[in-house]
Amino acid sequence: MRLCRAASRLTIVLLLASSLPGAASSQASAIDQRIDDLLSRMTLDEKVGQLVQYSDFSDDRAAAVREGRIGSLLNVTGAENSNRIQRIAIEETRLGIPLLFGLDVIHGYRTIFPIPLATASSWDPELVTTIEAIAAREARASGVHWTFAPMVDIARDPRWGRMIEGAGEDPYLGSVMAAARVRGFQGSDVASPDRIIACLKHYVAYGAPVGGRDYNSVDMSERSLREIYLPPFKAGVAAGAASIMSAFNLLNGVPTTANTFTINRVLRDEWGFDGFIVSDWNSVGELVDHGYAADGRHAARLALNATIDMDMMGGIYAGQLADLVRTNVIPERSLDESVRRVLRAKFMLGLFENPYVDPATEAAVILRDDHVAAARDAARKSMVLLKNDGALLPLSGDVGSIAVIGPLADNGQDLLGAWHALGRAEDVVTVLEGIRRRAAQTTTVTFARGSTVVGPDRDGFAEAVEVARNADVAIVVVGEREGETGEAASRVGLALPGVQQELIEAVHETGTPVVAVIMSGRPLAIPWLAEHVPAILQAWHPGIQGGNALADVLWGDANPSGKLTVSFPRSVGQVPIYYSRDVTGRPRSESKFTSKYLDSPNTPLYPFGHGLSYSTFEYGDLVLSADTIAPDGTLSVSATVTNTGRVAGAEVVQLYIRDLVASVVRPVKELKGFTKIFLEPGQRQTVRFTLGPSELGFYNQDMQRVVEPGTFAVWVSSSSDAGLESSFVVKGN
Ligand code: GLC
Repeated sequence: MRLCRAASRLTIVLLLASSLPGAASSQASAIDQRIDDLLSRMTLDEKVGQLVQYSDFSDDRAAAVREGRIGSLLNVTGAENSNRIQRIAIEETRLGIPLLFGLDVIHGYRTIFPIPLATASSWDPELVTTIEAIAAREARASGVHWTFAPMVDIARDPRWGRMIEGAGEDPYLGSVMAAARVRGFQGSDVASPDRIIACLKHYVAYGAPVGGRDYNSVDMSERSLREIYLPPFKAGVAAGAASIMSAFNLLNGVPTTANTFTINRVLRDEWGFDGFIVSDWNSVGELVDHGYAADGRHAARLALNATIDMDMMGGIYAGQLADLVRTNVIPERSLDESVRRVLRAKFMLGLFENPYVDPATEAAVILRDDHVAAARDAARKSMVLLKNDGALLPLSGDVGSIAVIGPLADNGQDLLGAWHALGRAEDVVTVLEGIRRRAAQTTTVTFARGSTVVGPDRDGFAEAVEVARNADVAIVVVGEREGETGEAASRVGLALPGVQQELIEAVHETGTPVVAVIMSGRPLAIPWLAEHVPAILQAWHPGIQGGNALADVLWGDANPSGKLTVSFPRSVGQVPIYYSRDVTGRPRSESKFTSKYLDSPNTPLYPFGHGLSYSTFEYGDLVLSADTIAPDGTLSVSATVTNTGRVAGAEVVQLYIRDLVASVVRPVKELKGFTKIFLEPGQRQTVRFTLGPSELGFYNQDMQRVVEPGTFAVWVSSSSDAGLESSFVVKGN
């Protein structure tokens, strides 16, 4: 039932509680007393030292530690090694303040899990929490206290290499994943010997650089900032994240590392964030490069004014802060506030009581069997089956011969993915190994690399064609090298690198059915594959158990259940592309003068939320608890999902809305809920969602969060491009 929007635009301004719980606990007050005591005994130089972070360790670092001029080190790992360095701080400095050791534990410490974009594709927050807890256990046992993760940057442009590190394009899913990862790292008490403090990064909007080029400028409305890029940070703060990392980029002309609107106004004042903020690598010093600071002294003042508490690898705070205080340019109380936030983290971690770690514990937990098993489980649940024509997959147990082809088929290093911490290629089960282990004794498995990942060499094509021609099925494993994803890895093209596309075409030419397995850190533009290859599996960079997990999926021991959290473009020319788009004033496709391309459909090759299963799921009985609600009211939405397939499987049921008419045009769809359910063949389950002001609200032209009267469409579906549809009305007063 569709009602036109009530004529009046009487809006209900909902001053939604924006302050986040920050109440100090009794433990916090005890810690604050200890901080006050310590601060009162610190010299100015010792205070500055707590705000200085350097990477690695060397003799001159040792001297600076002894003089209290360093408070944190990153990239120090190993129990013995970190103990040795920590002992200098504890035993050879005037006050014995422990060092804070940080590391990029982005998707595992030594047990390397699939890249974050992959595990986000599981749409399984509990899984994500579990694997981050494992990462924390291994990292803490190795002397690491703090991870520079989760990266929660929303990304809608796959040219940007760092898309791999986040949860994709959607703020709702990104928020759920941000909180889940924080819970995994921190647990309920970061003093536990198996927890580390989290660091939400990169604050903020780093994932929307002009041209998809890393470190480039970002310019967007406050509404886009608040509705798309800030929510995952807000969710991470609400989950208790102890720290945040500022970013490299300009935001609307002001560097994010000195941006008093996003930091002082939003993060500190509106959200009440009282954790500490670390700059990104020399991003304080880069205020000068940006042309925002005249020199290091100016940069130090601007950054501290924005409550950047720690200078990572810039040497700017080390060189400038003491004199800025001595010359009364910066009040010492400002410095004290930053020192207080850093010391609080060290007290919360229990480092004053337990500064060292036990090497025996490290040896016992690294690559522990249950950790490795979790890596396999995560990889299975992260893979996305994009296409499966003719049910080519799963492979039958008695398949006669399999040709395994491609430069990523016998490759360990690249399956680790970027930011793989202490991960080692030797720990990886390659695709070829996984397939050989799983195949029946009677199955012949052949291998041909065929090409390299990058480069023009086609010498291996003939061998690849030969093995394909003599096989019942060809598994072609292609994609990107881990070094061409992540930081400083933007691309202007999204095609398969090198001659991999030609390799697949040559193999396809043999007539042997092809399963394309794509190992990449971002969506690649694969229109030819989508048109010609019967089965396509997006395996991402799946971590140390990638080969076993892939074999599990290929043979159906694991039913694929991943769903895309980023839209796959047909062409790089479409980016930025995302499902939560605007209709525009010219959506009608029958007209010549409509919003379109002359050389491509508008739609993505594979949409957000897409992912196939070996089961089939039928949706029905979409029921709303009301046709009409008040602006501050709620309603429940339910639907039944039935496994109509022949095998058990998991399905990610998604809830989308659209506010049809509003004082600020709303997107065609917005994800506002999801749940992953497991159903046996024939089993049916009713799933329920609740919609209320936090889901229906948006920022109006006065930047107030409102729920406006009018009609909302609602979908319950298996992807962003399908689903059961209904509608309801928010009534005016
Ligand atoms: C890098 C990255 C950041 C990382 C830091 C420390 O430049 O931008 O994500 O945590 O340096 O390695």
